[in-house]
Amino acid sequence: MTAEYKVHGDVAVITMNNPPVNGLGLATRRAIADGLQVANDDAAVKAIVITGAGRAFSGGADIREFDTPKAIAEPNLLSLIVAVENSAKPVVAALHSVAMGGGLELSLGAHYRIAAPGTSIALPEVKIGLIPGAGGTQRLPRVLGVETALNMIVSGEAVKSEMLAQLPGQKLFDKMASGAESLLDEAIAFARSVADARPLPLVRHLPCKHPQGDAYFQFARNMVKGMAKNFPAPAKCVDAVELATKKKFDDGLLQEREIFLNLMLTPECRALRHIFMAERAASKIPDVPEDTPQRKIASVAVIGAGTMGGGIAMNFLNAGIPVKILEMKQEALDRGIATIRKNYEAQVKKGKLKQDKYEQRMALLSTTLQYSDIKDADLVIEAVFEEMGVKQKVFEQLDAVMKPGAILASNTSTLDVNKIAAFTKRPQDVVGLHFFSPANVMKLLEVVRGEKTAKDVLATVMKMAKSIKKTAVVSGVCDGFIGNRMIEQYSRQAGFLLDEGCTPQQVDKAIEKFGFAMGPFRMGDLAGNDIGWAIRKRRAQERPDMMYSRTADKLCEMGRFGQKTGAGWYDYQAGKRDAIPSAAVNDMIAAHRKELGVEPRKISDEEIVQRLVYALVNEGAHILEEGIAARASDIDMVYLTGYGFPIHRGGPMKYADTVGLFNVMEAMKRFQRNPRDDAKFWEPAPLIKRLVAEGKTFN
Ligand code: NAI
Repeated sequence: MTAEYKVHGDVAVITMNNPPVNGLGLATRRAIADGLQVANDDAAVKAIVITGAGRAFSGGADIREFDTPKAIAEPNLLSLIVAVENSAKPVVAALHSVAMGGGLELSLGAHYRIAAPGTSIALPEVKIGLIPGAGGTQRLPRVLGVETALNMIVSGEAVKSEMLAQLPGQKLFDKMASGAESLLDEAIAFARSVADARPLPLVRHLPCKHPQGDAYFQFARNMVKGMAKNFPAPAKCVDAVELATKKKFDDGLLQEREIFLNLMLTPECRALRHIFMAERAASKIPDVPEDTPQRKIASVAVIGAGTMGGGIAMNFLNAGIPVKILEMKQEALDRGIATIRKNYEAQVKKGKLKQDKYEQRMALLSTTLQYSDIKDADLVIEAVFEEMGVKQKVFEQLDAVMKPGAILASNTSTLDVNKIAAFTKRPQDVVGLHFFSPANVMKLLEVVRGEKTAKDVLATVMKMAKSIKKTAVVSGVCDGFIGNRMIEQYSRQAGFLLDEGCTPQQVDKAIEKFGFAMGPFRMGDLAGNDIGWAIRKRRAQERPDMMYSRTADKLCEMGRFGQKTGAGWYDYQAGKRDAIPSAAVNDMIAAHRKELGVEPRKISDEEIVQRLVYALVNEGAHILEEGIAARASDIDMVYLTGYGFPIHRGGPMKYADTVGLFNVMEAMKRFQRNPRDDAKFWEPAPLIKRLVAEGKTFN
């Protein structure tokens, strides 16, 4: 049963009951249609109330049904709404908590709507690359006016019911309930009061006009164009709402449906739907049940007040959790605190943070030079120098002082979390929390699961991540974890492309045109080319078989570390961030090619993009196969939230699925034959071969 039917005197109540948000999957739609039928057949029933059990009226369509026959199986959402409209007895929708997407559209088919204050009202379809497809674009403008409705539809943002109820002339709500608890009683009383009123009012009969018509829609189109970039849906929202003002209702409805179905097939929509599901999947760990008990995190300690320590601390301060930072020297503490202040003050200046909020946050921050001062913290995050010896000392001290049950985390980006855990007598309490720089801004948090990390520790940090608004993805222990292990292959390819004939700007331009926020060379200049240099030096010892282009080393030998030294792959003018192509760098690359005896060739943008992106894909496939990532969509989330991978392409693994794994594998085989490339790396990962053979995809 996904909807319950109950009669209260002469009013029938249909209560959707499909946790968590009463999604309108096939079973729920059937149950509502059945309820309507029974109520209409029962002579004792005079009116009908539709409401939702639990945490929502309804969150809308069941997105898992999309692309399956269930989505269109009768009654589909459109025909259900028609059945509501055609009910011979008045239907009252009683909205509370959440009335979104298809849920709101369903209520717009009802003859009357009553809402509890605090109900989130939205048509969020645009966020998954769609327009509302069950009348939302035709009915919402009729009850809220064209401008308010279009704003809601284009943004997908939720507006509270009490705000909408105040709009002059609004016809969305016939009545506001005094509270969520009394909603049902008030809805039943309201239904009774209108039981005999005829004709039954329908939203479809309301007029829909905008006084400035064409001019307004032209203005809306221009606004949307600037914002929507790679996505077709927002402009289609404008088209659909315009139809509402120009067409007969049923024609508008038909055309809305056509636009909806066309959008559904676009790669952008598929990518956004994939991300929607991927985000939810990433928070689940296959062998850690959702009801795993959690530890309390009411206070946090951070070791090290450097670049990362300060940013990490800010996350918790922003969430209202007290933080104590420990350093070796007072000067380091002072510097770290000054940086945190500077960051907050910049936010205050920009009007993004109120002065009193800033002060509240700073009041939660304290500092110390003594380990004994942090012993009671529930979670301690280490962000000291990236050296095993230093980490060892820190973790031995933590083991000695921290209270039992405290979670001990390391922000290491490359070191072995199992080894770090072994410095303590409580490896079950140790976990990697790999924040990305700037840690107070970047969404991604790689949660590194050690061999011995306890399940309740994992469950706790996953929840903690949500409370500080991070997207957490679990990674197993390996060099570079998911993100950096893959990016290394991407960077290697970028280097080989220089050896073979590209300029840094050509590579950057091609991949930025593909949609990356920043190409590899501009990125290197921003992050500091010396970081990669240090890693390659270490690699030369550990993995002498791994070849790299020497151009990046030569760049560093020239002292060109990037923006911080005023020169890197590009030249920079003092105080500016604009990347200016550098003659000195181009000469260095040309001389290097000469040394190698390479005749430069013209390389297409297509080859650049394929080599960079498929390098991510092949390494991603190895990561998946080794169980470092639990699912391909987790890898996509890492790249979307931490590495600026274009959202409209859904992440590297999803993109490979879209191109077709057979095509991806063929390209890899082609790259294998390039004498200047790494033939061993381009051997397609066994997982890719298997999926191609079985006709399957990553996701
Ligand atoms: P940093 O050099 O800016 O800061 C390190 C701080 O730790 C310094 O303030 C230093 O005084 C302090 N420190 C060193 N030894 C200490 C000890 N024994 N006790 C207390 N404090 C001590 O380094 P950064 O960049 O903040 O990196 C810290 C950690 O974060 C490293 O493990 C690094 O690999 C990792 N990481 C760095 C990222 C980055 O982009 N910088 C990104 C992700 C992780």
